[in-house]
Amino acid sequence: MTLTEHAIEARKNAYAPYSKFLVGCALECDDGTIIHGCNVESASYGLTICAERTALVKAISDGKRIFKAIAIAADTDQLTPPCGACRQLIWELCGDIPVLLTNLRGKGEQFHMLELLPSPFGRELLEDSLG
Ligand code: THU
Repeated sequence: MTLTEHAIEARKNAYAPYSKFLVGCALECDDGTIIHGCNVESASYGLTICAERTALVKAISDGKRIFKAIAIAADTDQLTPPCGACRQLIWELCGDIPVLLTNLRGKGEQFHMLELLPSPFGRELLEDSLG
């Protein structure tokens, strides 16, 4: 099963009764483990968590620290990329990894994180602070 197929599988668990916009994510760890994530919405809309952050938080919580690639699946003709908040967390935890986008209609595209988040804010800036 490819990482993209895992993301499509993860999407089946999405809890999105408000937006009805189902998203799945699959995160490949350096030990070969694949972690699934889906979006989880709340009646208090702002508490919603995206599929990508679900997968990242699950992985970190399971002790994973090094990631090889991330795949995201949604059923949109124009492929769904990670939102801004997710881009920041992917950068934090994964650096410049490949990001595979897919829909359910056989369309796929691959990016690297730095294409999606140019000029990122990261830990080296904290270390560089003079204050
Ligand atoms: N969503 C994700 O899970 N990932 C994305 O990359 C874009 C947006 C979710 C959040 C919300 O549950 C729904 O899609 C609509 O924004």
